[in-house]
Amino acid sequence: MSTAPWDKSSWQKFPALQQPRWPDAESYQQAVGSLAELPPLVFAGEIRTLKEQLAEAVEGRAFVQHVGDCAEDFSRCTGAHIRELLKVVLQMSVILAYGGEKRVIKIGRIAGQYAKPRSSDSELVDGREIPSYRGDMINSPEPTLAARTPDARRLLEGYFRAAATLNLARAFTRGGYAALDRVEAWHRQSLATLPAGQKYEQLAKQIRKTIKFMTAIGLATDSPLLNQVTMYTSHEALLLGYEEALTRQDSITSDWYDCSAHMLWIGDRTRQLDGAHIEFLRGVRNPLGLKVGPKHDLDDILRIIDRLNPENEPGRLTLITRFGAEKVNQFLPSLARAMRREGRKVVWSCDPMHGNTYQSEFGHKTRNFDDILTEIRNFFAIHRAEGTVPGGVHLELTGENVTECTGGSRQLLDQHLQQNYQTNCDPRLNAEQSVELAFELAEMLNPR
Ligand code: PEP
Ligand code: CO
Repeated sequence: MSTAPWDKSSWQKFPALQQPRWPDAESYQQAVGSLAELPPLVFAGEIRTLKEQLAEAVEGRAFVQHVGDCAEDFSRCTGAHIRELLKVVLQMSVILAYGGEKRVIKIGRIAGQYAKPRSSDSELVDGREIPSYRGDMINSPEPTLAARTPDARRLLEGYFRAAATLNLARAFTRGGYAALDRVEAWHRQSLATLPAGQKYEQLAKQIRKTIKFMTAIGLATDSPLLNQVTMYTSHEALLLGYEEALTRQDSITSDWYDCSAHMLWIGDRTRQLDGAHIEFLRGVRNPLGLKVGPKHDLDDILRIIDRLNPENEPGRLTLITRFGAEKVNQFLPSLARAMRREGRKVVWSCDPMHGNTYQSEFGHKTRNFDDILTEIRNFFAIHRAEGTVPGGVHLELTGENVTECTGGSRQLLDQHLQQNYQTNCDPRLNAEQSVELAFELAEMLNPR
């Protein structure tokens, strides 16, 4: 199959899991038809730059910070929400770069993370079966049949909201907000009383001092390197009709790029070797992520990698492992060893969220900060023992002070989660827990 010709619709001949059942075929065709006419969201040249940077992470010269909401919510496509997320992204990246002494590649689960795989197609509400919520690009979370019926017009709405989000993110990161001398402006009052807040103030002071010193000795501090950052976009490539519609041929190289985001990843539930997702993604040149959970088969993973990256190009593929704090010790060593033995060049990224979900005694889906930290520590230790490179982290977090994950220095407990539990999907670290985690990560990157 792998040598068969590829085109952007060849996936349609393969079984595609996790696709919504659009009740109105005509409205679906209209939506994807319109999307195919609309401008790309990102440019192939940017995608190539990201891939080159990811190749540095394969070698351990850069570190990937891949973070954002589990699922973006249409109603939170607001200036305030995007700004708060960006603040935490900038704070974390400066902590990692300074403490870890590495270039940090910033990728957001942002500007298109609107579709979710679900373990069940439907759920029972008051004795009635209704479709599961699959993300705002498909249906709406309220538990009624009307809200849960897939509506293809949402595909277009997702595109326009992704464009608006990306526009503001580009403005913030290019227009001066991300300048390093504003490192204090990203700080938040609520952090001040926490140990991580005090550490951050120290760090901000040191950076300000360094910039003053550079100015004093006549080094230019107006360089774009100090005043601008790049945040790349990514989402799970789940809805193949949407991805196909935004796939375009680059006029410079004639290669095909999925211009809905810079990076796309394949979920743990849709990575079948002969499935439609692998078929579609093998043909686009974007950097790809592949989620790998406990239910994998080593030979199968090797075959998938061959299909997605037959030339073993560094930067093309990131393996995002999500085993859980304990199971990581059982599954990661053999996976790392196999890749090393077979000479596969991949970025190793740790998703310490999806293997650590549990139900609190009060019914909230949650994750504990210490489990998240333990999985990351084990990930670093295993890669160092196996001679492979811990290249990044993949986290679900938000810039707002939600109460969705337990633990952290405020010691949130199960009974506190109801205070500000906002997510429609998976529980996210809040801004404080995220900054705290970044300091721990910086130490793991640069152990003294
Ligand atoms: C996710 O990243 O939100 C997700 C669904 O992950 P996975 O495919 O690893 O379960
Ligand atoms: Co999730």
